[in-house]
Formats: sequence, C-alpha cells, structure tokens
Amino acid sequence: ETRPRVPVLWLHGLECTCCSESFIRSGHPQASDIILSMISLDYDDTIMAAAGEQAEAIVEEIIRDYKGGYLLAVEGNVPLAHGGWNCIVGGRTFHSRLEEAARHARAVIAWGTCASFGCVQAARPNPTQATPISRLVSHVPVVNVPGCPPIAEVMTGILSYMLMFDRLPEVDRNLRPKIFYGQRIHDKCYRRAHFDAGQFVEAWDDEGARQGFCLYKMGCRGPTTYNACGATGWNEGLSFPIRSGHGCIGCSEDGFWDRGPFYER
Ligand code: SF4
Ligand code: SF4
Ligand code: F3S
Repeated sequence: ETRPRVPVLWLHGLECTCCSESFIRSGHPQASDIILSMISLDYDDTIMAAAGEQAEAIVEEIIRDYKGGYLLAVEGNVPLAHGGWNCIVGGRTFHSRLEEAARHARAVIAWGTCASFGCVQAARPNPTQATPISRLVSHVPVVNVPGCPPIAEVMTGILSYMLMFDRLPEVDRNLRPKIFYGQRIHDKCYRRAHFDAGQFVEAWDDEGARQGFCLYKMGCRGPTTYNACGATGWNEGLSFPIRSGHGCIGCSEDGFWDRGPFYER
C-alpha cells in the first residue's frame, strides 16, 4: 500500500487490440485494481483520453524521469520491411519508438502472440517482415505472454507477480512465465480421460461430439500447446475453446498460423 505505483508505458505495434480487450476484462484481480492501485499507466495510446503532441510528450517524460524504473508493455510486433512504414505512430516508425522506449526500461512485457512470436502478421510470406519484440530487444529482460489473446487473468497475474515480488517470473525457453505456461492444454484437459480411453470425435456433431469425447482427431493441438486455458479458463473460468466443443488451435505457440490446417476434417 505504501509502495509507489510503477510507471508503465503500453505501446501498440502491428496488432488487433484484442489483447487490451482481454486485459480490461480480468475479474481476479480486476484490471481496475491493477491500473488504479498497482501501476501508473501513464501512456497507452489505445485507451488514454489524451492525444497528439501532449500525449506523445508523456513518453519522453517517463523515459527521462524514470530511467531503469518503468515497465514497457508492448502489444503487437514490429514491421521492419520498407523502412518500417507499415506501422507509423506519432509520425515515427514503431521500430524507432520501441528502441527508444526499451532502452531504459526495467523490463519489457510482450503481450500476446503478436508481440511474442509474430502471430498472423508474421505468417508466411510475412510481407511486412513482422518481427517479435524479443528479437529486437536484448539489453533488458523480455517476458513473453502469448495467446491470441492471452487470458485476462494471466496478464494481470503476471503483472501482479512482478509488482508484488519485485522480480521477474521464471520463464521457459520461449520466455513464457512457467507459472502459467508450464503445462500443456492436454495435461489439464477435462476430456483427457476420453483420449486415454481412445474415445474420439470423428466428425463435427457426431455421437462422440455430443458425448464430449476427445477432439484430437479433429485437429486439437492441446498436446503441443503450453497455456493455462484448461486450468484457468476464460471469462472468469466459465469456459475455454475445448469446453465449447472446438479443439485448441495452439494460439500461444510460435508459428501457429503456419502449422495448419486448423481442421483435420
Ligand atoms: Fe490481436 Fe491476437 Fe495479436 Fe493479441 S495476439 S493483438 S489478440 S492478433
Ligand atoms: Fe488433449 Fe485436445 Fe483431447 Fe483435450 S481435446 S484431451 S487437449 S487432444
Ligand atoms: Fe488458445 Fe488453445 Fe487456449 S487455442 S485459447 S491455447 S485452448
């Protein structure tokens, strides 16, 4: 309660903004508690009321006044082709804005699969040369929080961890925090007993589908996907893709768009 709130700059590169949409729906902790009590969200060009030169000046102020003390959150990736003109913010390429903001950050959080791995923009043939944040930032730690989008409570959970313990979470070889990405969807899936028993959905809406059998033969990528969906759920634990009758498409994995097809039948 007595600790000063940590300044956060939240930049947006090539992305669709659904990571922000997910974040603001976090139920526990509530996104409003994070924003109002734990961090000082000083710049987020998607949800801030300010705009124009005064808003852009905030970025320079934070970098100057909180060198080494602010967190840089990045949603989206960086298009390097054509001199970077595929993403211009405030009259500058996103690449140059990222380089400037990351230079003195305490750490960088890469929200979503766009920022972590490239996502759909980086799918073959990747015409804009969309590039993940961790390939461009090497002098400060980068934490990847993939998912398209990431689960809201995973986003706020990772921020809470970093702020409460004043350290970065332990990460895997893809820079994903092990606390949320340490297990495969398959490891926590409630349909796992059907997988083990050899009971599979063979066609959409067949008897196996009505019985809730395993979706592996329909293309489910749960066995190779690391994320917390099976344990945490979506919409405050209400459901997740497999509970809704659809296989996992591996949205938190590197290159998931290029590993198609999503549907085996
Ligand atoms: Fe949108 Fe997915 Fe990219 Fe997030 S990771 S900005 S949800 S396309
Ligand atoms: Fe594994 Fe997918 Fe079957 Fe669940 S539905 S048990 S994640 S293959
Ligand atoms: Fe994504 Fe698979 Fe979860 S598609 S939302 S990681 S179940």
